[in-house]
Amino acid sequence: MRTLLIGANGQLGQELRQVYADHDLVPVTRADLEITDWKHTEEVLDRNVPDLILNTAAYHRVDECEEFPAKAYEVNALAVRQLAQWARAHGAILVYFSTDYVFDGCLRRPYTEADPPAPLSAYAVSKLAGEYFIRAIHDRHVIIRTCGLYGIAGSSGKGGNFVETMLRLATEGKEIRVVDDQVLTPTSAKELARKVRQLVETGAYGLYHMTNNGACSWYEFAAAIFELSGLTPRLEPTTSAAFGARANRPAYSVLDNANLRSLGLDDLRDWRDALKEYLEERTHMVLSG
Ligand SMILES: NC(=O)c1ccc[n+]([C@@H]2O[C@H](COP(=O)([O-])OP(=O)(O)OC[C@H]3O[C@@H](n4cnc5c(N)ncnc54)[C@H](OP(=O)(O)O)[C@@H]3O)[C@@H](O)[C@H]2O)c1
Repeated sequence: MRTLLIGANGQLGQELRQVYADHDLVPVTRADLEITDWKHTEEVLDRNVPDLILNTAAYHRVDECEEFPAKAYEVNALAVRQLAQWARAHGAILVYFSTDYVFDGCLRRPYTEADPPAPLSAYAVSKLAGEYFIRAIHDRHVIIRTCGLYGIAGSSGKGGNFVETMLRLATEGKEIRVVDDQVLTPTSAKELARKVRQLVETGAYGLYHMTNNGACSWYEFAAAIFELSGLTPRLEPTTSAAFGARANRPAYSVLDNANLRSLGLDDLRDWRDALKEYLEERTHMVLSG
């Protein structure tokens, strides 16, 4: 099965690259392919004729998307619409990554795939539009909503990841303020990538929530990073209102992997165990240069 991986240099892309290393994999980076340039994208698709398209590309600087909603829509929705049209015409499976931010957080219990979305930001609207275009166009799709990703490569689109940002701030000796009124499930990109392959190989289509298990606030996430790393910086909780980010974010966006569970595949670990593994792997990489 020929697999085209779009966004191959990204945080999730690099993990998928390893997971699909034994496949007939065509990894494309942004330098090879700009997905908003449809003519070129079509050429790349026609040349490679993939059976499976894994699209990790996104414009996901959430606050910036408020300023540039058209760009968010171009990358996260319109380009995805074109991919779906090509996939339908050629019978390819299309995998798209979406976000916990499609929910407004008012439910205060883990969201299942059956819960109606209510996005609060331009980013979230654009990702949801991407989901809807795919669902409207092509049956052979897998839409995966995930949350709070961190991976060894760091999120290139966001300039790092939360874990790396916290570790860097800890070395600077300043007080670190992190919001404690947004609850999520931090998710290991490595574990997600393995699960993506497992799910795709079942031949199941549709919408799937896919995160590690458990929940915490960003503040608790930061505290766990420091505790597991043996660091003791000055960490203080703050509120979203005091933090004053441009885009609204859900106060609670924990996802229930209900559809994955129905396939017997929801064995993703508790977020703390996955974080511990990430920190150990990271230490090993630093020590081995
Ligand atoms: N990170 C999170 O916390 C999180 C949470 C929920 C959902 N998601 C979703 O998960 C997916 C993967 O996230 P990630 O953290 O792995 O992101 P990432 O590290 O930013 O990777 C995205 C990759 O796509 C490439 N890309 C961006 N715009 C492109 C374009 N117009 N054309 C072609 N390539 C483009 C980027 O290249 P450049 O770096 O060169 O621009 C990058 O290599 C995204 O769909 C995101 O919306 C992420």
